[in-house]
Amino acid sequence: MSEEQVKAVGSGRRDFLRKSFLAAGAALAAPMAARAASQGDINILENPAWTTSLGLPVATNPYGMPSKYESQLLRRESPGLARVGGASVSFAPLQGLFGIITPSGLHFERHHQGWHDIDPSKHRLMVNGSDDSLLQKAKVYTLDELMRLPSVSRIHFIECGANTGLEWGNVAVPTVQYTHGMLSCSEFTGVPLKVLLEDCGVDYKKARYVLAEGADGSSMTRTIPMEMVESGEVFVAYGQNGEMLRPENGYPLRLVVPGVQGVSWVKWLRRIEVGDKPYATKDEAVHYIDLLPSGLHRQYSSIQEAKSVITTPSGGQTLLDKGFYNVSGLAWSGRGKIKQVDVSFDGGINWQTARLEGPIQNKALTRFNTNWVWDGSPAILQSRAIDETGFVQPSYGQLRAVRGTKSIYHNNAIQSWKVVESGEVSNVQVL
Ligand code: MTE
Repeated sequence: MSEEQVKAVGSGRRDFLRKSFLAAGAALAAPMAARAASQGDINILENPAWTTSLGLPVATNPYGMPSKYESQLLRRESPGLARVGGASVSFAPLQGLFGIITPSGLHFERHHQGWHDIDPSKHRLMVNGSDDSLLQKAKVYTLDELMRLPSVSRIHFIECGANTGLEWGNVAVPTVQYTHGMLSCSEFTGVPLKVLLEDCGVDYKKARYVLAEGADGSSMTRTIPMEMVESGEVFVAYGQNGEMLRPENGYPLRLVVPGVQGVSWVKWLRRIEVGDKPYATKDEAVHYIDLLPSGLHRQYSSIQEAKSVITTPSGGQTLLDKGFYNVSGLAWSGRGKIKQVDVSFDGGINWQTARLEGPIQNKALTRFNTNWVWDGSPAILQSRAIDETGFVQPSYGQLRAVRGTKSIYHNNAIQSWKVVESGEVSNVQVL
């Protein structure tokens, strides 16, 4: 298109336009011409610089980065959550993500004692038994040795047990990034832990637990029941979304324990011990326990039960206008696949079944979508997940009846987003 033609569209003088106006009749032609002149969108009428010039050469960024126009989509730390950044959380921006895979650079982070970029040539994984009768031969593996072994690649979610933990008592944070952003989903690649244990001659009859230990200064140690390992689901990962793990997520090795709360996914994994009883380490006897209304603490409650959240629209966003919206969100269950997600626009009185975007995978995030025509009046949006075991995500009323309000971990209540006439969306709780 020549410059003259482009200008002509803007001014309504372009030849073919004039012809069509004539054909349509003078009465019609005049208002259309006026509209073309006054409402012409310069972004379609004029050629921008990127259409009329040579772009940047290949490999300008040897490791590609997102567009500079996406610079606000970041993992963020909740102000005041922890006094030391090395013992804090950064939340994934769920409101801006599509599908089910979390870009590695936006994966949430939870460190108890900071993160390191560990030299893989100096990293070792030791496998030993708590006594000689449980494992024939203790071994130490280098990364190269591990990468020669049979590998699996599987998509799984990881959710910190403390996700949504700020909301036990009442609404505490405004956006889905902070209510639900201790959640991510990646394709992990690595060696099933049972391959390593069998390589070392494990006796499954005697060895009923493993202890996983990280190489950071936090002495992160967690007990994992042997049934999970024997099922083949637990693996020692080095890959994440097609590349090596990111340092923040455990480079060069982390344990993947599908369906189990994030704390058991030990990062910078350096040792696996097989034993015959739970280890009751500090991060399972004192921390990561659930205070029940009776005053008792529940320990070893590690499975992340079915949960879902609408990510768009969500708290802090504003609807543009009345009319059509694709309401989109995420559902997951630590017990298997998601079977159904229901969505309500009136705070849980009426429900409709959402579309699940396949393939629906075991212990992975599942994206759901549903159509909504907003009539401009106040609404309360909710989603409710049902997993393949038939478990139905509870309301806040149902969850608090069993768990009270003083817990930190395992809050899987139905999330509510309130929409007011102005289109503003905010976090509310509905019992
Ligand atoms: N492993 C070690 N060695 N040190 C840690 O601080 N944090 C745990 C777990 N594994 C942690 C660890 C917790 S509480 C969670 S929720 C997940 O890692 C977070 O994983 P991410 O930082 O990759 O999101």
